[in-house]
Amino acid sequence: MGSYPSDPPPLQMTDRANFVRMQDSTQQDWMLIGGEFMHFARGLPQRVVQHLQLLQGDYGGFPVDRYTHSLQTATLALDDGRDEEYVVCALLHDIGDTLGSFNHPDVAAAILQPFVSEANHWMVQHHGIFQGHYFFHHIGLDRDMREQFRGHEHFEHTAHFCEKYDNPAFDPKGRTLPIEHFMPMLERVLSTPRRSVYKSVLKPQQTA
Ligand SMILES: [Fe+2]
Ligand SMILES: [Fe+2]
Repeated sequence: MGSYPSDPPPLQMTDRANFVRMQDSTQQDWMLIGGEFMHFARGLPQRVVQHLQLLQGDYGGFPVDRYTHSLQTATLALDDGRDEEYVVCALLHDIGDTLGSFNHPDVAAAILQPFVSEANHWMVQHHGIFQGHYFFHHIGLDRDMREQFRGHEHFEHTAHFCEKYDNPAFDPKGRTLPIEHFMPMLERVLSTPRRSVYKSVLKPQQTA
């Protein structure tokens, strides 16, 4: 079997650990893997945006596509003076529509969990039920399903998100800032994990 010029270069085994069972790995292996991980982690904002852009052209019968809805939700939050962590939550709240067709808020919540407050995480994770207040009665569900959370410390925080930013973000003529406007804040918010089992071994300059 010949090799063509367009074939990818052979794997450089010197750049890879050699263990076949993780129990046999060494600290030297993990120095190598850790360096690769930090490089990979720095690309997280780009990967997230690429995934968000899968929603482009995905109307699903709605007046705007899911990408526009995401940008418009973030724009409404930004214009209302919300801080950048909140705006990033607004931007990504529906990113799970592609892979989490039956539990989309959980996908966004999982991505954001290391980087945001407990209140914002809860808001993203529960926004589906709270948003249901505006349409569940049209599809045979209880629009007051959110009442099961009445009294929860983040109830009003989440209800406000849906009322002010998620609910009105289906306007084809509505102000919708482009993704470039949100990239710097997305990069800042996703640069420093606050809640992660790896936090204690991440140096600030590596996560900045
Ligand atoms: Fe949603
Ligand atoms: Fe939404």
